[in-house]
Amino acid sequence: MKCVDDFRLRLGGRELVPIMIGGMGVDISTAELALEAARLGGIGHISDAMIKTVSDRRFDTKFVSAKQKRYKHNVANVDKSDVQFDLGDVAEATRLHVGRTMEAKRGEGLIFINCMEKLTMNAPRETLRVRLTAAMDAGIDGITLAAGLHLGSFGLIEDHPRFKDVKLGIIVSSLRALQLFLRKSARTGRLPDYVVVEGPLAGGHLGFGLDDWMQYDLRVITAEVIDWLSQEKLDIPVIPAGGIFTGTDAVSYLETGCAAVQVATRFTVAKECGLPAKVQQEYFKACEDDIEVNGISPTGYPMRMLKSSPAIGAGIRPNCEAFGYLLDAKGHCDYIDAYYREVAAHPGQKNIEVWDKTCLCTHMRNFDCWTCGHYTYRLKDTTRKNEDGSYRLLTAEHIFRDYQFSKDGRIALPE
Ligand SMILES: Cc1cc2nc3c(=O)[nH]c(=O)nc-3n(C[C@H](O)[C@H](O)[C@H](O)COP(=O)(O)O)c2cc1C
Repeated sequence: MKCVDDFRLRLGGRELVPIMIGGMGVDISTAELALEAARLGGIGHISDAMIKTVSDRRFDTKFVSAKQKRYKHNVANVDKSDVQFDLGDVAEATRLHVGRTMEAKRGEGLIFINCMEKLTMNAPRETLRVRLTAAMDAGIDGITLAAGLHLGSFGLIEDHPRFKDVKLGIIVSSLRALQLFLRKSARTGRLPDYVVVEGPLAGGHLGFGLDDWMQYDLRVITAEVIDWLSQEKLDIPVIPAGGIFTGTDAVSYLETGCAAVQVATRFTVAKECGLPAKVQQEYFKACEDDIEVNGISPTGYPMRMLKSSPAIGAGIRPNCEAFGYLLDAKGHCDYIDAYYREVAAHPGQKNIEVWDKTCLCTHMRNFDCWTCGHYTYRLKDTTRKNEDGSYRLLTAEHIFRDYQFSKDGRIALPE
């Protein structure tokens, strides 16, 4: 029987261990986690979600307070269209995060950045161009374009000197989305270097409907994509994601023509992961019934999370002056409507509850929106308990090597 280590991902003349740790927004997939994947010969992702917050935390910059100060006069205003990002600051924060990570890189693997295009930042094209350009300037090995895939993204950066050499990948949840993207970006003369096919069991936002996600199957979508690419004689590595929990699961995909796998949930309980240790215990403790897919993300995409996430029902004032990553081109976010609707319905009430939407920026920033993959309830089977009854965190290396070498559906427990 084979293990993942019997396969290699060929990408840009390199041979990599075919394990890619997926991007997990607002520094859940930290530089430390990504660096471990690269050191071990695979691919790790950092994320550019809320990059200024990440930079403030890591490098003691003051981007968030500066923005908040600049737009303080607007906090009680429902109209957020004036609240714009300083593009120079976005570039600087990106260069810091990417640059420092790349300087620390060791080993044969690669570091990519996950770039969620649904972070429209009140000026979708301009901010996206700056984010992508700054990441390339700072030496990132590759960029994975995710959530809300903008069909014209390649066009935004086609004049960059690294446009041909940086690895560019896209995340899709259907063959149709891939076909649309390829048609739209054909003009740039450049194909994606890899395609991540994300199925309905993944963490974070899902590319399916709130009511129909359970009808889809990653194996079926992946096979459709592989068949179509081979019919079209397009040699693009296909990387499935979502619910690949063991090395044996991974092998079953690699044996059917996938080039690698993208995994994330197993790494949410790694020491190098950005989630606070207390939250990691919530992930360990979760049972299947404690996890739901709901519609509270203002992006409009369904999102999977623990039902006990403090973000659910929390009625805080929108924080767009400090953050504002989800504001669309007109300065609008669905949470703003939901919040002010509840304020109007409960005049004079100090603490209100908002159940249908959440202030995702604030809650992701504070690690209060506990997004997770479907199989989070199996994490408890991947470790041992401490004497105090808590679960033992794992090293990223342990989890990575378990994916790489395990056979027969086994999961190696820590020593
Ligand atoms: C906590 C968490 C946060 C995530 N955040 C993002 C994100 O910011 N952007 C993204 O494209 N995918 C995100 N994902 C999806 C992962 O990158 C990955 O594709 C998927 O979860 C893989 O499935 P698995 O978790 O079952 O291994 C997230 C997943 C988890 C578990």
